[in-house]
Amino acid sequence: MSTTPELTVAQSILQRRSCKRFKPDAIPADVLERVIDLTLHAPSSFNMQPWRLIVIDDAAQKEALAKVAWNQPQITTAPVVLVFAVSLRGWEQTFESVIKIASELGAWPEKFVTMARGAVPGFQNALGAKEREYAVKDALIAATHTALAAESLGLSSCFMNGWDESGVKEIIGAKDNPDIAIALVMPIGYGLDLPKFAGRLPREVTVFKGTLSK
Ligand SMILES: Cc1cc2nc3c(=O)[nH]c(=O)nc-3n(C[C@H](O)[C@H](O)[C@H](O)COP(=O)(O)O)c2cc1C
Repeated sequence: MSTTPELTVAQSILQRRSCKRFKPDAIPADVLERVIDLTLHAPSSFNMQPWRLIVIDDAAQKEALAKVAWNQPQITTAPVVLVFAVSLRGWEQTFESVIKIASELGAWPEKFVTMARGAVPGFQNALGAKEREYAVKDALIAATHTALAAESLGLSSCFMNGWDESGVKEIIGAKDNPDIAIALVMPIGYGLDLPKFAGRLPREVTVFKGTLSK
């Protein structure tokens, strides 16, 4: 692990910028491992963890990804690109594993497990058209963990919406899989030419007390 002191959460939030170009330097394996580990600590609805994180470090695969992402240079210059895919129905296979892990850790007592066994399938099945939205919410929370964890360890990142979903699915080998959706693409690495802070809207526009009114 790098000996550079890790930034605090607040420092990481304030320092993070959307990096458009990266240095060619590789990310040390232990640093990448730590970023992934911290990402996977993210919360998710019922702890179902619908994210499927695809780590891309192969140059040809990054080239292909850039082609379906308007050739944005952060994809080809980053040493690692993370694709945050989600499995819409994966919980059906992983539900029992989630219960087993939480029970073994003593986090989910038998009473809670009984409640979850009753409630979760009903909740998930009632989502209907919102199934994708709910899975994507979880993945974006995980991606936010990634960006801040990366920042705290001296790396930069870029949240990316600018890609064609079917193209990304093809590149990760999920072309014909209707269970898989793409939530986000995020290159990470050591930043070059980090943009300046573009500021944020005044609070009168974005923060309200009690109701959405002046
Ligand atoms: C969900 C999401 C998608 C984004 N997609 C792209 C993108 O495809 N390409 C890009 O260059 N920046 C993208 N951005 C970066 C935003 O433009 C950037 O966050 C915003 O301008 C504020 O700048 P900052 O992140 O440096 O503070 C995206 C950001 C978010 C949160």
